[in-house]
Amino acid sequence: MTQDTSVQIPPENDEIRRRRTFGIISHPDAGKTTLTEKMLLFGGAIQMAGTVKARKAGRYATSDWMEIEKQRGISVTSSVMKFIYRDFEINLLDTPGHQDFSEDTYRVLTAVDCAIMVIDSVKGVEMQTKKLMEVCRMRKTPILTFINKMDRDGLFPLDIIEDIEKNLKIQCAPLTWPVGMGKNFRGTYNIYKNEMTMFSGGQETLPSDIKTLKGVDDPELDIYTGSYANDLRDDLELLNGASDPFSLDKFLHGEQTPVFFGSAINNFGVRELLDTFVEIAPSPIPKETETRIVYPGEKDFSGFIFKIQANMDPAHRDRIAFLRICSGKFTRGITLKHHRIGKDVTIHQPIMFMAQNRSIVEEAWPGDIIGIHNHGTIRIGDTFTEKEPLRFTGIPNFAPEFFKRVVLKSPLKSKQLTKGLTQLVEEGAIQLFRPVLNNDYILGAVGVLQFDVTMARLKSEYAVDAVYTDAPYALARWIRSSDAKKLAEFERKYPQYLAWDSEENLAFLPDSEWRLKIVSEAWPEIEFHATRECVNSALPEN
Ligand code: G4P
Repeated sequence: MTQDTSVQIPPENDEIRRRRTFGIISHPDAGKTTLTEKMLLFGGAIQMAGTVKARKAGRYATSDWMEIEKQRGISVTSSVMKFIYRDFEINLLDTPGHQDFSEDTYRVLTAVDCAIMVIDSVKGVEMQTKKLMEVCRMRKTPILTFINKMDRDGLFPLDIIEDIEKNLKIQCAPLTWPVGMGKNFRGTYNIYKNEMTMFSGGQETLPSDIKTLKGVDDPELDIYTGSYANDLRDDLELLNGASDPFSLDKFLHGEQTPVFFGSAINNFGVRELLDTFVEIAPSPIPKETETRIVYPGEKDFSGFIFKIQANMDPAHRDRIAFLRICSGKFTRGITLKHHRIGKDVTIHQPIMFMAQNRSIVEEAWPGDIIGIHNHGTIRIGDTFTEKEPLRFTGIPNFAPEFFKRVVLKSPLKSKQLTKGLTQLVEEGAIQLFRPVLNNDYILGAVGVLQFDVTMARLKSEYAVDAVYTDAPYALARWIRSSDAKKLAEFERKYPQYLAWDSEENLAFLPDSEWRLKIVSEAWPEIEFHATRECVNSALPEN
């Protein structure tokens, strides 16, 4: 089942061929953290279940704003974890599940080549899964599906398949099929290998303890699963007629998803998922730039920044920019061109993130994610290459839907406020607008929890004491026009609704959808954009 990547990767380059870079997407509570942990466990990156959660808990204890995560049971930040499974080097990019942080998730998805979608068998397809799926569809990201919590009484498997096909508009190809569910969950039948894997509950059950049977007609099937054996035979017959066979090509084009059933908390079905994942998921794929497509097998190094995170480790108070390598080999000490600012930078202390630790990386390959120390010069969307002036595309900024004005309690802290907001905006934690008519700080968010996190971080990390007041805006649209005269006229007509974003792009912030509608109809020469690419200033001449 292994994919053909020979077009992009020179045959001798096993380092690229054995890399897999993916993210897990799910609605909160479906089991993403649990599945992550089990994958790391199988990859030997952690020794004990509970480590990922414990790591999160450790962070909560040291940082106030993480307290928000704990109180609300959400995961706000995303991080990168590397582990090795069989001969594969796997980069797992964690994404916040809560919809209020979906912008961050969208950006992380620009850096992956594949995704695993976790669905709760009790709840079926949920809101956030739908949204994330739309992003994956836009990029044609290949997706594997894991239907979790089969140890609970949930929806009928055929109904879940129908739910996914209908609501997520992707063809399903089940590779395993559950036998019973809840208290009567007996295991899964592997449709392609024609074997049954028996379920035995309990956190620490490793797959080697589990019994397998040969073939759907094996009489032992009846002994172990009782009447469920016949249900399975019926289901398989139905599936045979109704569902499409697995197609590697359709999967790689994001048109079909192979489906697995299991129970992450019980380690069940995870090994099967991982084994299939490493075999069928693409090795690093080509990435688009404004001028051409970059292939991972190219000799020269290139990569882009998809995330910036400040104060990841409160003990270090550092700012890390996460760079996805797209082509060439990275060696510690390499000098790269930082194209947006037109400067050469030597990367002395690149960081690689293992499950529990970070370490200095000596070399890295396409698909890998490295952390670079950021002293305020790096922004999301920035491209680094050895020489060629490239700019990778597809890293969007979404128009905020919620607005607040920040008011300082003590005017003496205005320097700290500017510094804090600059850094948080740089991270993409929140968007900042400065109205053309006054000096207000207007924050824009895609989800309201971003405001809470921003305020908590301003307080704990920058010692800023401020409050929010209402801002009279309903939405934002970046404006542009090829008609400079009309644009100037527009700016004179509506200064009260205009503001500059953090990168000096002009945005129209009307007080209602209705106003946007009538204004945009009256000004056909002006373009109103709901998204903008992260960096849209012109490339400096080389
Ligand atoms: P998330 O990252 O997608 O938000 O989900 P997470 O893994 O934190 O799992 C959400 C809840 O679902 C957790 O319970 C977790 O233990 C449970 N869970 C995960 N996989 C399975 C499974 O296969 N079967 C069952 N029955 N439950 C599962 P919790 O009570 O919220 O947290 P905890 O106290 O167990 O940590």
